[in-house]
Amino acid sequence: MKTYSVALIPGDGIGPEILREGKKVMDAAAEVAGITWRWKEYPFSAEHWLKHRKGLPTLMSEEDMAELGTHDAIYFGSVGDPRVPESVGQAGGLLWMRFYFDQYINLRPAKLLRGVESPLKGKKPHDINIYMIRENSEDFYIGLGARFTGNKSSETMELKRKLYKARFKVDVDVEPAGDFAYQIGVVTEKASERVLRYGFELAKKKKMTRVTVVHKANVLTKVYGLWIEKAEQVAKDYPGIGLDFAIADATTMWLVRRPEHFQVIVAPNLFGDILSDLAAATVGGLGFAPGGNINPDRKAGVSMFEPISGSAPKYKGLNKANPIAQILAGKLMLEHLGEDRAAELVEQATEDILEAGKVRTFDIGGTSTCSDMGDAISERLLQLKP
Ligand code: IPM
Ligand code: MN
Repeated sequence: MKTYSVALIPGDGIGPEILREGKKVMDAAAEVAGITWRWKEYPFSAEHWLKHRKGLPTLMSEEDMAELGTHDAIYFGSVGDPRVPESVGQAGGLLWMRFYFDQYINLRPAKLLRGVESPLKGKKPHDINIYMIRENSEDFYIGLGARFTGNKSSETMELKRKLYKARFKVDVDVEPAGDFAYQIGVVTEKASERVLRYGFELAKKKKMTRVTVVHKANVLTKVYGLWIEKAEQVAKDYPGIGLDFAIADATTMWLVRRPEHFQVIVAPNLFGDILSDLAAATVGGLGFAPGGNINPDRKAGVSMFEPISGSAPKYKGLNKANPIAQILAGKLMLEHLGEDRAAELVEQATEDILEAGKVRTFDIGGTSTCSDMGDAISERLLQLKP
């Protein structure tokens, strides 16, 4: 029997309650798939930071990160708590994991499930079925830049990635003096190629016929100029799959007007962040939006699976939040581990429960609790056991 070792990080806000349900469903999935989980829970959260790391810029230590890296996957709830600076959970937690483990793919599928109503009129189940792939290692997310007051600034900045190291020396002389800020965006050949190729490979695997590459090369000519050039090159290796370019602003419009058009979307980091929330909204909201932060080479770096909703502190501890995004993040984790059949059944069980309509959380007009939903989906999943 295969055993997978998985780090659980419940985190803050609704994280612990939705992850509890996710784990419940994953335990049922293990029974279905004939695998076992070796769960290990980690306390990284606002509470933990306030007690043990107050004043430090990161949620975890280097040793913590090294230990996380020994697992087969990380199943993550969410971070974010008003008592802790935002940058600790984000740059020092979530983004740090993405960069540290080189999780260069951020896979954020948006599928309209049976039993869920889209806010867009007339959409039937699966009419919307988008594999949104967000580049997860560079672009305007590298965190380099400066802010100063006056007329001079001189900065040396380092960018360290698994793929490359770069140093920037930026001198600014500005007249007249005042508050000034700039931020650097980076796109490289290697990082672009690998995520674009992943998009085409996924299209092939899922028997899709089109990959839409999002950009804004008309204005940000340097970074996205390189990006679209790489897309054209990679697309040549996939003659059966169409390459479709879409400018970021127009993409937001088309996602609302004709979401059926999209199959696989590959977007640079920042546009992908924005578009994935929009895509989530078209399929019922953030309660249905899972994310996989993936390093496809399991030996090179551990991958992390999370709901994209964030910690929603307002709903913390109420057992009210919709755990489906967390459960579907578990589905992505199963796929990543090669347990495709169990992954399919998790989605099927989720859809069966939604379609039956008896168990509905508040975001979809019901009064069921977070645990009601987790219970119902795990029971259904066990019934589906082949
Ligand atoms: C997301 C979030 C993060 C991001 C934040 C919390 C840093 O919005 O996962 O989409 O911008 O990537
Ligand atoms: Mn986001």
